[in-house]
Amino acid sequence: MPDAVSPTREHRPALTGIRLLFATAAASDRRGVYATLALGFVASLLMPLFPLLFKVLIDAATDGNLRVVTAAAIGMAVIATGGRAAWSYAHMYGWNVWERLTITIDEQLVALTGRLGLVDRAERPDFLEHLTLVRTNREHFQESMMSLVGAAFLVVQVVVTVVILLSVAPVLLILPVLSIAPILASRWAESRAQRALRESAEDIRTADNAALLAIDAAAAGDLRVLRLRDLVVSRHDAAWERSVARQWRAESIGAVVSTAGLMLFTVGFGGAVLFVTIEALNGGASIGSVILVLTAGQQLHNQIGGVLSSAGDLFRIVETMRHFGWLGRYVDEHEERGSLAPAQSLADGIVLDHVSFGYEGSDQDAVDDVSLRLPAGAVVAVVGENGAGKSTLVKLLCGLHRPTSGRILIEGTDLAELHAPSWRRSLSGAFQDFVRFEFLARESIGVGRVVSVEDRSWVQSAMIRADVADLEEELPEGIETPLGRTYLRGIDLSGGQWQKVALARAMMRDAPLVLVLDEPTYALDVESERRVFEWFTRVARSHSVIGTITVIVSHRFSTVRTADLVAVMHEGRLVECGTHDELMTGGRYADMYRTQAEGYR
Ligand SMILES: Nc1ncnc2c1ncn2[C@@H]1O[C@H](COP(=O)(O)OP(=O)(O)O)[C@@H](O)[C@H]1O
Ligand SMILES: [Mg+2]
Repeated sequence: MPDAVSPTREHRPALTGIRLLFATAAASDRRGVYATLALGFVASLLMPLFPLLFKVLIDAATDGNLRVVTAAAIGMAVIATGGRAAWSYAHMYGWNVWERLTITIDEQLVALTGRLGLVDRAERPDFLEHLTLVRTNREHFQESMMSLVGAAFLVVQVVVTVVILLSVAPVLLILPVLSIAPILASRWAESRAQRALRESAEDIRTADNAALLAIDAAAAGDLRVLRLRDLVVSRHDAAWERSVARQWRAESIGAVVSTAGLMLFTVGFGGAVLFVTIEALNGGASIGSVILVLTAGQQLHNQIGGVLSSAGDLFRIVETMRHFGWLGRYVDEHEERGSLAPAQSLADGIVLDHVSFGYEGSDQDAVDDVSLRLPAGAVVAVVGENGAGKSTLVKLLCGLHRPTSGRILIEGTDLAELHAPSWRRSLSGAFQDFVRFEFLARESIGVGRVVSVEDRSWVQSAMIRADVADLEEELPEGIETPLGRTYLRGIDLSGGQWQKVALARAMMRDAPLVLVLDEPTYALDVESERRVFEWFTRVARSHSVIGTITVIVSHRFSTVRTADLVAVMHEGRLVECGTHDELMTGGRYADMYRTQAEGYR
C-alpha cells in the first residue's frame, strides 16, 4: 500500500496526553473537574502544616506559654478536620468525574472507529493494536485517575513540606533532592513495563481470539469434527505464556531498580535526623525543630511513597492517552474528505475506470486494472471462482475500500469526491459475510432501514419484495420471534433462514441506487440460488424508475444467465464481459458454464 499508514508523530507526547486527558474529562463533567481540583488543592495546602503547628506547640510548651499552646492546638484540630473533609469531597467528586470519563472514552472510540469509512483502514493491525491498548488500560482508568490526581496533590504537599523543612536548616534540601531518585527509578520501571505490554499486544490478541474461538457456539461443531480444540488451546497457552513471561521479566527488573532508588532516600533521612539532633544537643536548634524534622521528614517519606505508587498509574494513563491521541490523529488524517451529494437517480450509470486495489501486506492486487461500465437500470452479474476478487470489487463500489489507482465514476462524478456516508445511504445489499443480528426477527430485518425498524408493515413488504414472506410462518412468534441463543426464548435459525433475513434486510431500503447481492445464497443449492437471482432480476426490472443498478455476485456461472450483463473475473482481472448469449459463443464463461451445469445436473 503506497499511502501513509501511521499518523504524523506528536511533538511532546506526555504533555499532549495529559492535555487530552483533561480536555476529555472536562468535556464529560466540567464542574466536577473544577470541584475536584479546588478541594484537593485546599486539602493539600492544609495537611502539611500539621508538623509546623506541632513544633510551635512543643516549643511553646517548653517555654510554658499557655496561650500559644492553646492556639496551636486549635489550629491543629481545624487543619486536621478541614483537610480531611476537603480531601473526602475531592475524592467523591473525582470518582464521579472519572467514571464519566471512562464512558466518554468508550463513546469516543466508537465514534472514531465509525468515522473510518474505509473498512481496510479499521482492520489494519496498527490501528487494532492502539485500540486494544486503550480498551485494556481503560478498565483500570477510574482507579488510575484517582491516584493520578492524588499524586498531583501529593506533589503540592511535598512542596509545602520542603519549604517548612528549609525553614529549619537549608542543608535539609538534601531530603527532597534525594527523593527524586526513587521517582526517576519508578518512572524507568514503569516505561519498561509499558514496553513489555506493548510488545505483548499481539500475543494478547492471539490468546483472546483463541479463547473466543474455543467457546464460540458457532465454531463448536467445526472444532469437534476437525479435532481442533487441542490446537486452539495450545495456541492460546503459548501466547499467554510468552506475554506473561515478558511482562514478569520487566516487572522484576523494575522492582529492583525502584527499591534501590528508595534506599538512597532512606539513608539521607537518617542523616538529616542525626544532623538536627546534634544541632539541638549543641544548643543550635530547639526540641521542636527535632520533632519537626522527624514528623515532616516522615510525612515527606509517605508523600513521596504515595507519588511513587501512583507514578505507575500516571505513566499508564499518559500512555493510554497517547494511544487514544494516536487513534484520533489517525482517523483525522484518514477520514474521507468527499463532500458532494450523490445523484438522486442514475441515468448514465457507473463507470469503473482502470480500478486497482491491493490489501495491506499482499503483493498481488485483489482487483487488477478493471474497467467496466454498469448501465443505469441494469442487472449486472459478477462471476468467477473463489478469490477472483468479486467481493473486493463490490466493496470498492460501496466505498468501503478506496482504489489504489483508477477511478469509480457515479454519473460522471468520482466516488472519492462524494460524501461517503450519503453514498452508503443510497446503497443496499446483502453480503457473503452478512451479520446475524440476534434481535427480534422484525428488528434483524428492519435495521436495513433503521427509521422503519418499528414499522411492521414496512418490514413485511420488504419480506415480500425479497420473496421470503414464508419465513413469518416458519417462526413461532412470526416476525416478533427473538433470534439466536442469546435469548431465553430465542430461536436458532438455519443457514438458509438467516439468508432469508439478510435478503429481506437488503430490501428494506425502497429506492437504492445500487443493490448488491454478494453471494448471500452461498449455502443454497444451485436451483434455489438460480430462483433467488431470477426473482431479484424480475424485481429489478419492475423497479427501474430511478435507474437502480442490481449487482449479483456468484461463483456459480450457471445461475446468473438472466442478467443484462455478465462480468467474468479471474485472479483480480476482468477477463470477459457481455450478455449470456454473447459469452456463450466461446471462452472462459462458456467453458465454466458448461462444466458447472453438467456437474450440478
Ligand atoms: N480483508 C482481506 N485482507 C487481505 N486479503 C483479502 C481480504 N479479503 C480478500 N482478500 C484476498 O483478496 C483476493 C480476492 O478476494 P475476494 O474479493 O473476497 O474474492 P471473491 O469474492 O471473488 O471470492 C483473495 O486472494 C483474497 O484472499
Ligand atoms: Mg466473495
